Amino acid sequence: MNYENIFIEHEKGIATLTINRPAKLNALNKATIQELHDAFSAMERNAEVKVIILTGSGEKAFVAGADISEFANFSVEEGAQLAQKGQELLFDFVENLKTPVIAAVNGFALGGGLELAMSCHFRVASDNAKMGLPEVSLGVIPGYGGTQRLPQLIGKGRAMELIMTAGMVSAEDAYRTGLVNHVVPQAELLAFCNGIASKIMRNSPAAISQAIKVVNDNFKDGVNGFNSEIDAFGYCFGTADFKEGTTAFLEKRKAEFKGN
Ligand code: COA
Repeated sequence: MNYENIFIEHEKGIATLTINRPAKLNALNKATIQELHDAFSAMERNAEVKVIILTGSGEKAFVAGADISEFANFSVEEGAQLAQKGQELLFDFVENLKTPVIAAVNGFALGGGLELAMSCHFRVASDNAKMGLPEVSLGVIPGYGGTQRLPQLIGKGRAMELIMTAGMVSAEDAYRTGLVNHVVPQAELLAFCNGIASKIMRNSPAAISQAIKVVNDNFKDGVNGFNSEIDAFGYCFGTADFKEGTTAFLEKRKAEFKGN
């Protein structure tokens, strides 16, 4: 598929998806959100893609937020619709993707940019990255899940302060508070993420997608994560990956997972 605002490189099971609007610091306009949805959806259906790495083009920004020029004149209804559509198409969609998604935060991740990084399954930052939710400085609040996911990741008090001050945290501070899992020099960011992806790829895709679902269930209203875990655990016993994984262990050989 041809995309205008993103590009994808796929090598040996790892797809690197790059948001490519460097002149606008990769700000998320409507077209980019739709393209990201289409690309994530296609990659989830592609059994050859085992891990996705999401990053921004250039050395300055991951994503500097939702495209402010697009919503500056919106009404109350249009504002609510913007948040709802965006959450459905991209942020909730990525969080619930069956394929693991790593955010390689290569610079500014602000507003919708940090919200997108937080929707990914985990984050690695380059040492120059800066992160924040500056929406209140524009007279609005985070609308792509930031008010919910930031407290989940760094705790309520820290999230309140970051949101209220519209401040930015350094990569090191983000690491200290658990917002990102690792900080590496910018030149090594993608290689580092590829290293983690390679470790993930040794394991059963069927089990990994169940694990993603169950961990996410911990944060869903009205869903008992422990019960979900029991169901998903049982489900795994019916998969070819389980048969292969346990047989390979007993035969003292490397498992060859098919992903089902
Ligand atoms: N929406 C639309 N355009 C954006 C943008 C956004 N969120 N973030 C950056 N841009 C555009 C700028 O308007 C500028 O475009 P121009 O060259 O056509 O004027 C270009 O990207 C470069 O940004 P600039 O502000 O000149 O870079 P800088 O190095 O001086 O500052 C930032 C970098 C990230 C601090 C600054 O761009 C910024 O504060 N962006 C908005 C962050 C934000 O509030 N995000 C939340 C949105 S809800």
